Amino acid sequence: MQALRGVDIEIGAGETTLLVGPSGCGKTTLISVIAGILRRDEGECSVFGTDLTRLSERELTAWRGRNVGFVFQSFNLVPTLSVAHNVALPLLILGEGFASALRKADDLLARVGLEGRGDALPAKLSGGQQQRVAIARSVVHEPRLLVCDEPTSALDAESGQRVMQLLSEVARRPDRALLVVTHDSRILAFADLIVHMDDGRVHDAVRPKAVMEVA
Ligand SMILES: Nc1ncnc2c1ncn2[C@@H]1O[C@H](COP(=O)(O)OP(=O)(O)OP(=O)(O)O)[C@@H](O)[C@H]1O
Ligand SMILES: [Mg+2]
Repeated sequence: MQALRGVDIEIGAGETTLLVGPSGCGKTTLISVIAGILRRDEGECSVFGTDLTRLSERELTAWRGRNVGFVFQSFNLVPTLSVAHNVALPLLILGEGFASALRKADDLLARVGLEGRGDALPAKLSGGQQQRVAIARSVVHEPRLLVCDEPTSALDAESGQRVMQLLSEVARRPDRALLVVTHDSRILAFADLIVHMDDGRVHDAVRPKAVMEVA
């Protein structure tokens, strides 16, 4: 079965791109290919000038570790590690010292409203709290490509706005990009580009701010 068919999108550096479409249309599959988590069967996938299809598994893993932050739809926290260790993990894998990695993890946990919860195991946290841990983990190593699958699905309005502000702040630099899958109309205001998908295809991409400026 083909989950994606003839998808052609370009994500701008320094921009926030939102990907929307019905359940099962291929959003998670598409962002997994762009982030180097899944391999595509055919076609090109180039990120910041690197053709991911030409990398070996080992090279792809190293590339991902350096360049990508990913918030999984189901969070994917490591259940046996504390919340702070989960957040610090991308830095520890990149070789950063333990004390400095944990300091950055604590700072980010405070940014997402989880100050003082660093020693807890993920299972002790609510769904929305776990989602905020996943968000802190995705930005801790300041990735060039930040990809988030429904990052506000378990969050109330205020936490959702706070999280989107953090994600935008990390991504809004000319050499970075933020790609967010969402059903949440409350975060549409953050978009530079909104890409609509259906049945494995991209059928529309609009620039809401450009439309507003012209109008
Ligand atoms: N691991 C898998 N193996 C085989 N097919 C899969 C796998 N994961 C997803 N699919 C199929 O690929 C299609 C696209 O799934 P995908 O998870 O990308 O959808 P989605 O747009 O993210 O949906 P949702 O909004 O529900 O998260 C679906 O038909 C799904 O059944
Ligand atoms: Mg999905």
